[in-house]
Amino acid sequence: TGMFTYDPGYTSTASCESKITYIDGDEGILLHRGYPIEQLAEHGDFLEVCYLLLYGELPTKTQKDDFDYRVTHHTMVHEQMNRFFTGFRRDAHPMAVMCGVVGAMSAFYHDSTDISDPHQRMVASLRMIAKMPTIAAMAYKYHVGQPFVYPRNELSYAANFLHMCFAVPCEEYKVNPVLARAMERIFILHADHEQNASTSTVRLAGSSGANPFACIAAGIACLWGPAHGGANEAALNMLDEIGTVDRIPEYIERAKDKNDPFRLMGFGHRVYKNYDPRAKIMQKTCHEVLGELGIKDDAQLDIAMELERIALTDEYFIEKKLYPNIDFYSGITLKALGFPTTMFTVLFALARTVGWIAQWKEMIEDPSQKIGRPRQLYTGATQRDYVPIAKR
Ligand code: CMC
Repeated sequence: TGMFTYDPGYTSTASCESKITYIDGDEGILLHRGYPIEQLAEHGDFLEVCYLLLYGELPTKTQKDDFDYRVTHHTMVHEQMNRFFTGFRRDAHPMAVMCGVVGAMSAFYHDSTDISDPHQRMVASLRMIAKMPTIAAMAYKYHVGQPFVYPRNELSYAANFLHMCFAVPCEEYKVNPVLARAMERIFILHADHEQNASTSTVRLAGSSGANPFACIAAGIACLWGPAHGGANEAALNMLDEIGTVDRIPEYIERAKDKNDPFRLMGFGHRVYKNYDPRAKIMQKTCHEVLGELGIKDDAQLDIAMELERIALTDEYFIEKKLYPNIDFYSGITLKALGFPTTMFTVLFALARTVGWIAQWKEMIEDPSQKIGRPRQLYTGATQRDYVPIAKR
């Protein structure tokens, strides 16, 4: 059985060559196409980052206008998709709805699924980036029992999303620009993160030449887990469970106890053995949002800050290099923006879609690309003869 290298969790196996995202986990550095995430989050807008991830360069003004126009004019989804939503039980988890509806896009958009045609690949990419906010907002509206709100193309990507989520037919809704900017920043921070589990899933699914919309649905399924995108929801539920600052030490002890499966949600990362650079920006954005909304003495934020303080000074966490990750502060921010916890991972999926597509596109365009087909170390029974059921 010594024929293959066994690398559980692929901690030391590169599955591809990529020019999109660079991470130095020890230094806490994250670059997209060479640009530091801090600069992109501070100065860029989300569609600019999408363009950068997809095409490798920041767009010129003309390229940007053209890209914005094309994305904006693909935001509507086929009217029949409404019925797809309403087929789900009203209490379905929005991520379950997302897996189904995004997968179903493969049944609606046949004219962008010939992956050998660069034009069709481009149209499929634009469609997914453009329609994901619409689908995510519809999942939200269905979840809270309100009518779907159609996209408004004069708004920015993030503002349009907030509009589709929070506008109601009976009253005026104006998007708060500070909150729209925070939403935009959250999208930028989640846009790509090299070969994480869901991105690897998309690449693996796509390596067989599968339908691109179906590949993204596979990525969404993978992202749902609490060890991955589901951590933001789990982190906020944990803060709720802790409840008061004085109970933090009890949870710190539980996290350290090897016989207790409990982990501090929003802490630790496979690659970052330093502060996740995205978590720093997320923390700042969190304070901006709470400030704008006039939320003071937020119990969850108090617990979060104290938890972070203790974890950063505790032997166990220092030794294991467990720092807060992006999911730690995104939950509090999203809650303040008005989203229920069940929507958090949906927002992660929305933002990560561009990363999935950029990575999928890079793979399809890579001449050395092969179907992803890992080998195994067989540890089962050796050959034996079939025994008739009466004799077993
Ligand atoms: N709380 C307590 N102990 C932890 C934690 C934690 N959050 N994370 C890791 N450890 C310990 C773990 O018990 C292990 O100890 P030992 O070496 O004594 O067995 C050691 O640290 C290494 O952990 P690991 O599970 O082998 O590391 P990994 O690279 O396989 O896992 C992780 C990375 C993110 C899954 C893990 O840190 C974790 O479960 N964190 C909590 C969930 C979370 O916040 N996930 C979000 C990840 S970031 C963005 C995203 O993907 O969404």
